[in-house]
Amino acid sequence: MLVNGRFGITKDPRADRNRYQGNMVTFPFLPGNYRLHIIYTMLMYTLTDRIVFITGASAGIGAACAETFAGLGARLLLCARRLERLLPVASRLEAEYDVETHVIELDVTDSEAVAKAIENLPEEWREIDVLVNNAGKALGLDKSYESRLDHIDGMIDTNIKGVLYVTRAVVPGMVERNRGHVIQIGSVAGRWVYPGGTVYCATKHAVRAFNEGLKMDLHDSAVRVSSVDPGLVETEFSLVRFEGDKERAEAVYSGLTPLTGRDVADVVAFCATRPLHVNINEISMMCVDQSHAVLVNRRKSD
Ligand SMILES: NC(=O)c1ccc[n+]([C@@H]2O[C@H](COP(=O)([O-])OP(=O)(O)OC[C@H]3O[C@@H](n4cnc5c(N)ncnc54)[C@H](OP(=O)(O)O)[C@@H]3O)[C@@H](O)[C@H]2O)c1
Repeated sequence: MLVNGRFGITKDPRADRNRYQGNMVTFPFLPGNYRLHIIYTMLMYTLTDRIVFITGASAGIGAACAETFAGLGARLLLCARRLERLLPVASRLEAEYDVETHVIELDVTDSEAVAKAIENLPEEWREIDVLVNNAGKALGLDKSYESRLDHIDGMIDTNIKGVLYVTRAVVPGMVERNRGHVIQIGSVAGRWVYPGGTVYCATKHAVRAFNEGLKMDLHDSAVRVSSVDPGLVETEFSLVRFEGDKERAEAVYSGLTPLTGRDVADVVAFCATRPLHVNINEISMMCVDQSHAVLVNRRKSD
């Protein structure tokens, strides 16, 4: 009876919207607000045993998303380049949440490897329901014309090409099944540009444009497309940006209370659990101490 079809699937999942409006009469003894809440809860898409594929799940927002989806009972398909970091994440989630995981060592910038990884998935991991395109990075904080070439390539290859390669490999299956959800981890850098972030911001602007187009490409299907666009999140992001310079990385978050990976993961899960006729296009989020890309309120006492 639930919308996601655990108790029977309909041909077009969006059509369930009207069926479940009828459930209001099931709770005539409850006050109206409670009734609506119960009905909405019934409409929500449950992720129990659904396959969620998260790129860059070895750290930061990706690892937090893995934990949040584990809490929702999803089956986790996790990839990253550092297997030594990814495996402990997967084992802990299996033990703590009693969920199944499948781990892939994958560099999303390698188009052939991405295609092969998806093609060679074991039968029971093929039907990906949710793709979280999270793997990404900023490298350096230089003027664009002074940026190192490896930084420019690294950002463009991971943040743009990686997203395109993975999406291209996964979405055809979703279209075939007429079911699925692509969620990009964008950034406020896809909306605003800041000094020193020219190339990174350009890549996140590209992801934003791509997402808008992807929704149109999928117009005649029930596949959903969302983008969650955070501001400052305390992860290994700055450590990667400054090539392991811990002091410089920590200074980015000093005197303020940044978002955590878990804050972002909660919003990703919110998008994924909306009723199937609802498409959250984009959610932009920042910590209270941030008001624009580089406008942050650093409190002296912290
Ligand atoms: N932190 C922020 O302030 C912030 C704000 C807005 C948006 N974002 C976005 O959030 C996403 C996640 O960043 P984060 O903050 O969680 O950073 P993070 O802690 O550095 O994590 C990045 C993840 O991406 C993976 N990754 C990097 N390159 C990869 C590649 N070529 N192939 C596969 N996986 C790769 C890393 O794993 P391996 O190194 O093991 O491959 C790691 O798991 C990025 O897209 C970033 O642009 C972050």
